Amino acid sequence: MERVRYGMVGGGEGAFIGAVHRMAARLDDAWELVCGAFSSNAARSQRSGEALGVPGARVYDDYRTMMAREALLPANRRMQVAVIVTPNRSHLPIALAAFGHGFHVLSDKPATATLDECRELAVALRHSGLRYGLTHPYSAYPMIREARARVMHGELGSVRKVLVEYTQGWLAEPIEHEGQKQAAWRVDPDYAGAGGAMGDIGVHAFQLAEFVAGQQVKQLAADLYRTVPGRRLDDDGTVLLRFDGGASGVLIASQIFVGDENNLRLRVVGEKAALDWNQLEPNSLWLKYGDRPAQLLRTGHPGTGGEAKAARRVPSGHPEGYIEAFGNLYREFALSLQQGTPTSVPGIGAALRGMAFVETAVASSAAGQAWRAMPGFD
Ligand SMILES: NC(=O)c1ccc[n+]([C@@H]2O[C@H](COP(=O)([O-])OP(=O)(O)OC[C@H]3O[C@@H](n4cnc5c(N)ncnc54)[C@H](O)[C@@H]3O)[C@@H](O)[C@H]2O)c1
Repeated sequence: MERVRYGMVGGGEGAFIGAVHRMAARLDDAWELVCGAFSSNAARSQRSGEALGVPGARVYDDYRTMMAREALLPANRRMQVAVIVTPNRSHLPIALAAFGHGFHVLSDKPATATLDECRELAVALRHSGLRYGLTHPYSAYPMIREARARVMHGELGSVRKVLVEYTQGWLAEPIEHEGQKQAAWRVDPDYAGAGGAMGDIGVHAFQLAEFVAGQQVKQLAADLYRTVPGRRLDDDGTVLLRFDGGASGVLIASQIFVGDENNLRLRVVGEKAALDWNQLEPNSLWLKYGDRPAQLLRTGHPGTGGEAKAARRVPSGHPEGYIEAFGNLYREFALSLQQGTPTSVPGIGAALRGMAFVETAVASSAAGQAWRAMPGFD
């Protein structure tokens, strides 16, 4: 099978997530980095491309030039997928440029800066006939796939309660004023969009909750805070959720939880059993019952099903985590392009729902924590 040729926008020297994408893309040898516009600064893009071993002729000063020049190359050489790893506000124009030149898109989250932009993205995607994937890696952990399968097969009975928490401590102080580049754009609505913590990590928690519970949030009430003085976006918030299948829920997304790392925990409670998963111990999944001892399921150990087995690479006891989960998204997206294989990679539906979540939460909180309906999508 030929490797999928991709070009990267963003991810230059000093950037965070672009390097994770490149590692993930190499895990299964199914992808090849052929070009890039790695930075908003042309010289930095060139330096970054050189360091990555990308031929100079295919390191571009900006993404528009990259799309236009790549489209002129022979079909068997030009990139096939544009990977977007820039701050949120540029996701839409980059994706539109990619579709306009016939390239698929694999984008990091949140999909866009606003819900209106995401609707525009959805229309452009529909007209293009191309593919779009959104990298919510938590949904690709083996034990999350196991959890989802158990809910789907009815092992929990009907789901009654969902509790999802994503707490980090790195923005507890105003480090955006100390030259911390990742913090600086995340707290700036011009770059990040309408959501602070909600847009940055709340969208992950939201996607994970719907993905595993198998129900969609239909209404929410949010209580968001700008805890650190001077911030213009939320850095902490709690959201009450009502799901269309009858469950209720609570989502906490906070970046002022002093001392917390990427503390993402999901609990799903059904009539007969409950699930408990934490990203800090991602190869474990607790199943809890009312009438017998709890069970600890482990990645790669007997007791897991096909979905979890397909999402792991090494025997039990060898820890797998974030990069491998990202790699699963890359593997599945490649298969969907090469063989039309159905995929669990979040797509435009998840993109629209994530942006709707952010905007509905912000509106609800501004209206005094009022209940608000999530918009529906065709
Ligand atoms: N899925 C995840 O787990 C995850 C984790 C972290 C970040 N993210 C998302 O990834 C994106 C990037 O976040 P980050 O933390 O890596 O940011 P970052 O600030 O570390 O890196 C952003 C990069 O984009 C480049 N850039 C900006 N505008 C550009 C343009 N017009 N053309 C080319 N390059 C441009 C910058 O020069 C930089 O190299 C954000 O949307 C963020 O929400 C996702």
